[in-house]
Amino acid sequence: MATQNPPTPPKNRKAYRGMAMEGFIARWYSRNTQKNVEQVRSWAKLASASVGTGASILEVAPGPGYLSVELAKLDGSYRITGLDISKTFVGIAQEKARAAGVRVDFREGDAAYMPFPDDTFDFIVCTSAFKNFPEPVRVLDEMFRVLKAGGKVLIVDLDKNASDAGIDEYVDSMNQNWINSLFVKLTFKHGLLKWAYSKSQIKDLATKSRFGGCEILDEGIGFEAWLEKRGHCHPSMITGSEPTFYVAGDR
Ligand SMILES: C[S@@+](CC[C@H](N)C(=O)[O-])C[C@H]1O[C@@H](n2cnc3c(N)ncnc32)[C@H](O)[C@@H]1O
Repeated sequence: MATQNPPTPPKNRKAYRGMAMEGFIARWYSRNTQKNVEQVRSWAKLASASVGTGASILEVAPGPGYLSVELAKLDGSYRITGLDISKTFVGIAQEKARAAGVRVDFREGDAAYMPFPDDTFDFIVCTSAFKNFPEPVRVLDEMFRVLKAGGKVLIVDLDKNASDAGIDEYVDSMNQNWINSLFVKLTFKHGLLKWAYSKSQIKDLATKSRFGGCEILDEGIGFEAWLEKRGHCHPSMITGSEPTFYVAGDR
């Protein structure tokens, strides 16, 4: 298969849905999500359980970088990279890593045009951000490209079918003051749900991507989508009763 090493993004492309998370918005988000440390640790443990010593891990859209920092604390041998479109978040995340005394390579870039060669990472994780990407299949294809054969991706995000009661319970568990709590609930219900994917929509996107499919698990008011870069059988290649298998990437 021809290599697809780092593609160049078109000029003036808007890389995210909605407002840019820069300046005070990024700083507010960073302060507000700092309290979710238990949840972030549980995602870091999930990722860690999927990789071996010295693994090369990419966090797509890390925002303030809490998950990558927790991962680095779990095992200092990991080589962790975080790629985010927001300059402010990259600065905040670098500062968080410095303060925690861990090494993470946080850098600015677009998930749909990743600045990495093919077959670079053993594992990719992306939390609370997939719904923000305007070209989700392109992002999945980029994850596939930069992942090594046998590598896995974990995407955690809000489920479009999350109930109002579920959202209230989730936000209440974040222990915020009443004004932040009200603002976050309204943002979830009247903003984020509009962009969020249902589990079947995520399956469809994964099927259209080079991964060819994914496994979905429930995760509170969201889902975990697990994707793997492996040899698989694409439906378009099934002729008669004998499916044709091909090596991942040959599409
Ligand atoms: C809601 S925040 C989630 C941050 C973090 N993952 C978390 O769990 O708190 C969404 C993140 O997606 C980033 N983002 C949006 N579009 C992006 C793109 N095309 N490439 C890289 N990052 C992007 C934003 O800058 C922001 O950091």
